Amino acid sequence: MIIPVELGKDRYEIVVERGALSRTGEFFRLDRKALIVTDEGVPSQYADAVAKRCRDYVKVTVEAGEESKNMENFKMLCQVMLENDFTRKDCVIAVGGGVIGDLAGFAASCYMRGIDFYNVPTTLLSQVDSSVGGKTAVDLCGIKNIVGSFCQPKAVLIDPDVLDTLSDRQFACGMAEAIKMAMTCDSELFQLIEECDAKNEIEDIIAGALRIKAEVVAADEKEDNLRRVLNFGHTLGHGIESVTDLYHGECVALGMIPMTAPHLRARLTALLKKEGLPVKCNAPAEEVAEKAMHDKKAQAGGIMTVRVDKIGCFHFKKAGAEELIKDYEEAFR
Ligand code: GLY
Repeated sequence: MIIPVELGKDRYEIVVERGALSRTGEFFRLDRKALIVTDEGVPSQYADAVAKRCRDYVKVTVEAGEESKNMENFKMLCQVMLENDFTRKDCVIAVGGGVIGDLAGFAASCYMRGIDFYNVPTTLLSQVDSSVGGKTAVDLCGIKNIVGSFCQPKAVLIDPDVLDTLSDRQFACGMAEAIKMAMTCDSELFQLIEECDAKNEIEDIIAGALRIKAEVVAADEKEDNLRRVLNFGHTLGHGIESVTDLYHGECVALGMIPMTAPHLRARLTALLKKEGLPVKCNAPAEEVAEKAMHDKKAQAGGIMTVRVDKIGCFHFKKAGAEELIKDYEEAFR
């Protein structure tokens, strides 16, 4: 199935199809040089499947993990392109999760003031969220995503078959982001996830989440307003992530609970539990709220939170530290 992201001259398509990896050449223009960027945590057969379809490629494999999203790797990718005589007509292809998409996309957006970028996300989390929308970045001085750009890919290729090699825990993290989209924007998607075995219906779940993402990004590419809905669960989630060892998706799952009206929480937590996500958090409220308030999205007068009072609908509300602490304590006591 093809999902368009309607951004005028930057319009692109997302392909969601089992086996699509072996048909990369039909969706990407590969009659030129390609820099394939992947990491050690990604089974090498995925980048190799893309490489096989390229006329002329250079493959770079970085270490797995958030630490790879740094200025040194950004510089290294630009140097590799320079040493291999890449011109403005050549391209970069990310094969991996969100870290690889962010790093490779940022290098593509800067090299010669921007060359074509393709994304092949291989984790569920990057398939349902970060591979679409054009946010690219690296971290600096311990601050996540502080140096980056908006750079829309030319195409995104999602092959759900690659999820077969993903751990259950990583799969659950992707489900947290899909549930986030459903909670805020699509009650039917929420119901589908409630009623199905997610692994059996994953194509429909990915497509459902991406239709929402594509619409939100088309309406508000640079996150002036509507796109902030995608931060549902992320405000307290980032606070929880800073003070625990939980994975990003698990923290988003927890972060959604206090932002959901009390009468809906049992339904949300039942679904999170079904997907193997945590629903209880022992991290101290004050510490979580303090970290959340220092998040880069904090503004004068409080932090903008996304709330859900009815499944499929949301509203924005500014909240200070005291209110966040109250919400958190009420949800997890
Ligand atoms: N992952 C949130 C966004 O793309 O805006």
